Amino acid sequence: MNIGGELELNARQLTYTEFNKYNFDQFHTYYCGRSSVKHILQTINKKSFLLPAFLCAAVIQPFNECGVDCYYYAVNDDLSINIPHIKQILAKEKIDGIYIINYFGFPQKEDVQFFLKQLKRKYIIIEDCSQGSLIETKHPQVGTIGHFVFTSLRKYLPVPSGALLKNNSTYTLRRDIAEDNNFTENRLLAKLLRNYYVKQSSQENTVETVYLDIFRNEELSLDKHIEIAKMALISMQILNNLDFSDIINRRRTNFNQLATFFKLYFENHNCGSIIIDSLPDNISPQYFLIRIKTNRNLVRKSLVSENIYCPILWPYIVGDSNLIYKETVELSNEILCIPIDQRYSPQDMEFIIGKITNVLNRIL
Ligand SMILES: Cc1ncc(COP(=O)(O)O)c(C=O)c1O
Repeated sequence: MNIGGELELNARQLTYTEFNKYNFDQFHTYYCGRSSVKHILQTINKKSFLLPAFLCAAVIQPFNECGVDCYYYAVNDDLSINIPHIKQILAKEKIDGIYIINYFGFPQKEDVQFFLKQLKRKYIIIEDCSQGSLIETKHPQVGTIGHFVFTSLRKYLPVPSGALLKNNSTYTLRRDIAEDNNFTENRLLAKLLRNYYVKQSSQENTVETVYLDIFRNEELSLDKHIEIAKMALISMQILNNLDFSDIINRRRTNFNQLATFFKLYFENHNCGSIIIDSLPDNISPQYFLIRIKTNRNLVRKSLVSENIYCPILWPYIVGDSNLIYKETVELSNEILCIPIDQRYSPQDMEFIIGKITNVLNRIL
């Protein structure tokens, strides 16, 4: 049993169904999230943006490619935006726009949302919903703030590529852009190979090496340069085939199962805590988030040896002195993201609980 890693893709998911008939007209489509941000930045032509200090390095790339100056605001350890810090920077620097992330598919708290909506009168806001909860339901709780709201799909849905962008601003984004093919084609192949790999009882290492290589190469080429390119048709078709209500139910059930377990566990073991313990309506996280006070890396490594892959979202971005905030560094050092996505059942959650408690009891 393998837990975590890229979502694989099977033949059924490639077959036409009637599930969503997704209305793409309300969106601009791109092959990846960064492509949508680059297109926004090229269109609005602003000079400086305020970004959160807790972020994935990829988020900064389009700003660098468009020559936009970046400033960073602190994020609290409950993943809420630090309002006093934003105010402090806005009072001191000339800022044109603000970038916000709905971490792990959860909306910002109401007071933060209120504050951001006030700022919207003066600053362009880009709202990043790349960790889900924007398109899975009819009444999303995220995506209500930004002039521009986008999600990158491939991290939380079994699509090879794709990002959707909603333009709530008065700017016009041109639509005559070419469709991506290479990135999608290669990742489609890798996802099918991964599906073959995870289904085998004796796992074939050559297959694993091939698909891991393809995924790695495609990420590397994206990290080198972002094109402005549309989402490939095949990714749109796969997205249309997905049964969102099943996906949401599975993730929410898994979340609640782990929340019940870890509440009790951390009451009796003082080695960590839950980061977000309740699940508002219409939110469907892909990970259950906990903090491990010491030896997080060792815990994570021991879980890898049990075939449970918990990504670090996100490692602290070393080397940029602008990004040194105590809360951010601590969060990056302690966070453990446990996969609870639609691939897994309640029995799989029991399996994970068993393995994690063994590891925690042994190491901590
Ligand atoms: C929060 C967040 N926003 C945006 C991106 C960029 O998305 P993409 O890799 O599709 O360009 C990422 C990528 O990891 C991300 O984690």
